[in-house]
Amino acid sequence: MNQSTQDNQEPVDVVIMAAGKGTRMKSSLPKVLHRLGGRALVAHVIDTATRIGGRHIVVVTGHGAPEVEAALAGTMSGATPLFARQMPQLGTGHAMQQAIPLLPDDGTVLVLSGDVPLIDADTLRALVAESAGRRLALLTIRVADPKGYGRIVRVQGATDGADAESEGEVQAIVEEKDASEAQRAIREIYSGVMAVPARLLRAWLARLDNHNAQGEYYLTDIVGFATVDGVPVVAHRIEDALQVAGVNSPSQLAALERALQLRRAEQLMSQGVRLADPARFDLRGTLVCESDVEIDVNCVFEGAVSLGADVRIGANCVIANARIESGAVIHPFTHIDGEQAGVTIGAGARIGPFARLRPGARLGAEVHIGNFVEVKNSTLGNGAKANHLAYLGDATVGQRVNYGAGSITANYDGANKHRTIIGDDVHVGSNCVLVAPITIGAGGTVGGGSTITKSTEPGTLTVSRARQASFADWERPQKAPKKD
Ligand code: UD1
Ligand code: CA
Repeated sequence: MNQSTQDNQEPVDVVIMAAGKGTRMKSSLPKVLHRLGGRALVAHVIDTATRIGGRHIVVVTGHGAPEVEAALAGTMSGATPLFARQMPQLGTGHAMQQAIPLLPDDGTVLVLSGDVPLIDADTLRALVAESAGRRLALLTIRVADPKGYGRIVRVQGATDGADAESEGEVQAIVEEKDASEAQRAIREIYSGVMAVPARLLRAWLARLDNHNAQGEYYLTDIVGFATVDGVPVVAHRIEDALQVAGVNSPSQLAALERALQLRRAEQLMSQGVRLADPARFDLRGTLVCESDVEIDVNCVFEGAVSLGADVRIGANCVIANARIESGAVIHPFTHIDGEQAGVTIGAGARIGPFARLRPGARLGAEVHIGNFVEVKNSTLGNGAKANHLAYLGDATVGQRVNYGAGSITANYDGANKHRTIIGDDVHVGSNCVLVAPITIGAGGTVGGGSTITKSTEPGTLTVSRARQASFADWERPQKAPKKD
């Protein structure tokens, strides 16, 4: 059950404005699709809207609308938000005019921006509570440099210093370009987030005009209408600037990324995870850790990753969609990506340095995978080892198998993939090619340098290579003397 029904409040309908161009990103990708912490900016906002129990979620699209709408299909654990197209973009009030016909009258409309990703669910709940089904609630913040923002104009004290600035009743929001010099000095600004009863908003949007310095329809003009209509306006002021920080440039995007990552790092450390350096840690999905996990510098985690107790991750690893059991050690520069199929690594396994585990790698307990070894869609039994320069694809490898340096499964015939089955306790020498489909019987040995095309019986030694020959007193050809 969602928050709004739990509290018996009115339903909350969310409108996320995302039609703007984002010129300063200087990118062909629509601004709200740029990624923060591995997820599109606007997807963070949708997640938060979902978390507070938003009934309808409308995204206003314009610039790059088809791309944005396609990217957000199924983004709400399978569900898709509603879209309202705004063409052309004539201002925030005009954006809301496109969205309001999609919403019923009985709710509270929460207005958010697709480029303000770190807004907190609790802040939004508090703002909706301030609106209380009958008031216009504005999320505001006091900043050192209010340049470019809409200023919160209060009945008294707009020029009387900081304290008076936040006491009088809110009368209007004045945009930078329309503001008098005195108004420009106001440091309390409108964050772009508001909560307002839908029935009031609908009537006010119908009254907007574009008679202002920018020739735009300003959503912020509804504050003046509320004052005229005797509807109370409340400012809910917060201190945490990160929550209302917008992304307009690559530099701002990078700054928010670091802030978000630091927050994620702090959260993990508070659970006991030991990060060598929280400033050199990147989580672009979810990371669940049991006790005494250690993570060295410059690791990147993507998708869903879980680490068992005492797992150690060396420096410079990239790990995505994997489950690593307790006590396993991942040495530096290892790349693990389970994609859809996932990767599982058994207890006490040792992986890397420079190993590559791909989708469907299922490694048992105490498995060793060494440098420049690639494993894809293969199961390795407990204690199996492939320590150097090898490939295991579409293979089922028994327990305690030793798979030699430079050996590979030839799993692909140009059209189909075939399986290789290696029984328990097999020893595959160095530089072997196992041409699938093939089975190496349990306890067997494959001599180094063999190309194996037929299955072998358990316990046998199989060698398949040219017989060695030596020629005595062999004289090597000489190079002809150089001419001038
Ligand atoms: C707006 C507010 C300003 C506030 C600031 C906070 C108005 C008139 N002004 O400024 O008081 O301090 O946000 O950041 O509302 N958008 C559309 N369609 C449009 C125009 C904008 O969807 O036609 C979207 C943008 O993509 C963005 C959001 O609305 O997500 C805010 O637009 P932006 O231009 O950044 O804000 P301002 O209008 O400058
Ligand atoms: Ca603008």
